[in-house]
Amino acid sequence: MSRFHFRGLMVAMVVLGLSWGSALCQQLTGEWVFPGETLHNGEQQRMILDLNQKGEEITGSMLALGWGNGVKGTIHGSHFELFRTDLEEPKPFMVGDIANGELRIAFWGRTQVGHKAEPKDEIVIPAQIPPPALHPVASVGQAKTPPMGWNSWNLFADKIDDKTVREMADAMVTSGLRDAGYVYLNIDDTWEGTRDDKGVLHTNSKFPDMKALADYVHSKGLKIGTYSSPGPRTCGGYPASYGYEEQDAKMFADWGIDFLKYDWCSAGYVYKDAAIHAVYQKMGDALLATHRPIVYSLCEYGREGVEKWGPQVGASMWRTTDDIRDEWESMMSNIHIQAPTAPWAGPGRWNDPDMLEVGNGHMTADEYRTHMSLWALTAAPLLAGNDVRTMTEETKSILLNKEVIAVDQDALGKQAVPVKEGEIERWVKPLADGGVAIGIVNLGATPAPAKVALQDLPIRGSAKQARDLWAHQNVALHDGAYTATIPSHGVLMLRVSVN
Ligand code: GLA
Repeated sequence: MSRFHFRGLMVAMVVLGLSWGSALCQQLTGEWVFPGETLHNGEQQRMILDLNQKGEEITGSMLALGWGNGVKGTIHGSHFELFRTDLEEPKPFMVGDIANGELRIAFWGRTQVGHKAEPKDEIVIPAQIPPPALHPVASVGQAKTPPMGWNSWNLFADKIDDKTVREMADAMVTSGLRDAGYVYLNIDDTWEGTRDDKGVLHTNSKFPDMKALADYVHSKGLKIGTYSSPGPRTCGGYPASYGYEEQDAKMFADWGIDFLKYDWCSAGYVYKDAAIHAVYQKMGDALLATHRPIVYSLCEYGREGVEKWGPQVGASMWRTTDDIRDEWESMMSNIHIQAPTAPWAGPGRWNDPDMLEVGNGHMTADEYRTHMSLWALTAAPLLAGNDVRTMTEETKSILLNKEVIAVDQDALGKQAVPVKEGEIERWVKPLADGGVAIGIVNLGATPAPAKVALQDLPIRGSAKQARDLWAHQNVALHDGAYTATIPSHGVLMLRVSVN
């Protein structure tokens, strides 16, 4: 090889090397699709990762039918890590590797394989319908006390169908739940089919006739609830009410719906959080126009100070937190997040730390009693989320504790706030009769003593009696105080009544 040719080869190799290197540097750039399950309306769920790689830095977005957010992260060699841009989290929510033109990721506890997206995979984001100017909307639903009932999501998720709802209605009557006040039977996400060319949103095959189902539920002396979103899709990826608010509200009223949970989710594709109030107002107006008393329940996870403006869109209750899970940490975290909203609770305006997990099997009986007590002390809606058909006696004794329910339903509508001393937390709720309810929770891992002294309680009048609402018996006070040992994660719940 002559020197000239050798130099030529070297130059070619450097040029090739550079372009290969820059190709490697951008290997993640592009749209990647991860196929998901087939939804009950026949549509294909999928996640699109739209990534832009510059050197080792990655920016982009993640979008599925129903949810999405910005992402950022890094790549080293073939391994990458992604964080959500809307959360400050120490750990990446997704890690993965790129090899042979595929992305292999660990996400939501399983390995998923993605490939370059094709036009058919695209998730179309509709144009923004400008949010309306704000005006106050009268409440159509009646919720003078926190709504009580049952909701399908916590246990059944997408496995809810007509048959199960009917069986649940029967069981709500035979178990005594209905007569204890649990009257709303709420069908959560995944009832939706597709929208036809007249804009009518049909049910999917799990719910062949929603009007007939509503009639059945009503015939049991219960009320029925449904679910939608102000965005184009529900959280589960099903068609939602964006642009069809009036038509859907009218259909819900025609079916005989009594309660609507309205879940933000994909509305975040189209609107910034600052528009939440105006966007929720649209459905408030639409429900009002039906003249049917439909309880309007907002689910936007406590954003934008919803406890302050919820009543102005005609709502009676609103979530203050992300989704609850059937575990102690999640339950306690939700109730602590709910705590600062206390000043805004009252008749017709309820802060909702999410539905009950009592009876779903992943907390101890003591923890479930604490869960029920805290929801009652904070005047939270009591929406059971367990299988009412097969409740154990223990679960019944918790959900059907009428004395605890009475604290939740107290006409004054005050929401207790916690005061913490070491591992002991005290929640005190003033009651309409001048007395108080007190919950003392042991957050620690071992039994702990707790003392309730009358002089510390905001009672109006002189104390007549103190009653342990879980033991269902009056307790004797010594020197104006009551002392008890509380098991780990357990609760002492007392009601002090006045003369
Ligand atoms: C969100 C809500 C849940 C439930 C699901 C349904 O996660 O917070 O309560 O309604 O959507 O998809």
